[in-house]
Amino acid sequence: MDVIVGGGVVGLSIAWRLARAGRPVTVVDPAPGRGASYAAAGMLAPVSEVTYTEVPLLRLGVASLRRWPGFAAELADDAGLEPGGLDLRSDGTLDVAFGADDMAVLDEMAAYLDKLGLPVERLTGRECRRLEPMLAPSVRGGLLAPGDAWVDPRRVTAALLAALERRAVPVVRERAAGLLHDGDGAVVGVRLETGGELRAERVVLAAGAWSTELAGVPVRPVKGQIMRLRSPQPLLGRCVRGAVHGASVYLVPRGDGELVVGATQEEMGFDTRVTAGGLYELLRDARELVPGVTELEVSDVVAGLRPGTPDNLPLIGPSGTQGLVYATGHHRGGVLLAPLTTAVLMGEESELAALCAPGRFRDFS
Ligand code: GLY
Repeated sequence: MDVIVGGGVVGLSIAWRLARAGRPVTVVDPAPGRGASYAAAGMLAPVSEVTYTEVPLLRLGVASLRRWPGFAAELADDAGLEPGGLDLRSDGTLDVAFGADDMAVLDEMAAYLDKLGLPVERLTGRECRRLEPMLAPSVRGGLLAPGDAWVDPRRVTAALLAALERRAVPVVRERAAGLLHDGDGAVVGVRLETGGELRAERVVLAAGAWSTELAGVPVRPVKGQIMRLRSPQPLLGRCVRGAVHGASVYLVPRGDGELVVGATQEEMGFDTRVTAGGLYELLRDARELVPGVTELEVSDVVAGLRPGTPDNLPLIGPSGTQGLVYATGHHRGGVLLAPLTTAVLMGEESELAALCAPGRFRDFS
C-alpha cells in the first residue's frame, strides 16, 4: 500500500491517479483540501507568471497546463460531475501596464517569450479595455497570454475527494506525526498523532509547507493572503494582473460572479493570520486595475502557506531514503503542477522529472 501524507490538490491527485491505476492507497490529512489549495486562486498561468531566471519552471508549467484539460475531464467524470464542473477556463491572462516603465517591462517580456516560442499579444490601452471594459482608464497597454487558464481549486479538491470516495480510498483525517523506519533506515509507514500507525510500502510526502517537519525537506512556508469578492455578474472575462506599487496583484474571475484577488507574499513562518494591512494592500492595488472592485461584497478572506524551495522548483521523486518519495515544494504552482506531478510519479515524464529530482538538495539533509 502507498500512504500519501497531505490531502491538498497535489496529494489528492496522486492518490486518485494511483487508485485509478489499481494501487491500494491511503491519504492522511487532518483537514483535506483546507490548506494552501483552499487559499489558492487556481491560476494555470505558466506564461504570465514567468520570470527571466525560471525557464525550467516555465517548462514544467507549460507541460502541466497541456495536461489540465484531460485531467479535468477524467476527474469530473470520475467524481460524477458535469464536464465543466471544475470551472476550468482558458481565456488567457491580461497583464496590464500603467506607466512607460511598466510598458517597457511588458515589451521586454513579450520579446523574451517570443524567443521561447510562447507568443503573446501586445495590446494598447484601448485594446485592453475593449477586452475588459471594467479596466481603469489609466491602463496604457497590456500583454495577453492567450493560452493561460484557471480553475477553481476548491472544486478540484472536492472532486478529488468525491472520486476517492467512489473508489473506496481511505482518507484518514489525522495529522501524520512522524515517519516509521525499519532497522536499515528505510521508511515503512507513518505514525499518527493519536498514536496509531499506518504501514506502507511507500510513503509519498505531499504535505506542502509542513513537509519539512516530517522529513527535513528544504521547504519553507511563504504566506499568501487572498480575498474573494462577489458580484451578481462576473466583472471580468479573464484573469487580469499588473504591478502596482512594486507588487504584483491578480484578479481571477469565476463563472458564478466570484472574483479572487491575490495575493501577498510574506516570509512569516507558519503564520496564517489574515491582517488588515494585507487586505488593505490587496484592495488598494486591485482598485488601481479595476476601480469597480470596491463596490463588490467581500465573501471570504484567507491566508495559505505556499511551500517554497530554494530554487522555486518542486521536489518530485525518490527522496534518497528507501520507501520515501517527495511530491512537495510546489510554491506558487501547486494547482498548475498537480497533473504533471502525478505524471512524473507514474513514470510518464522522464525528461522533465530530472528538473524536479530531489537529489539536487541532498546536501541539505
Ligand atoms: N500562483 C499565485 C500565487 O501563489 O499567489
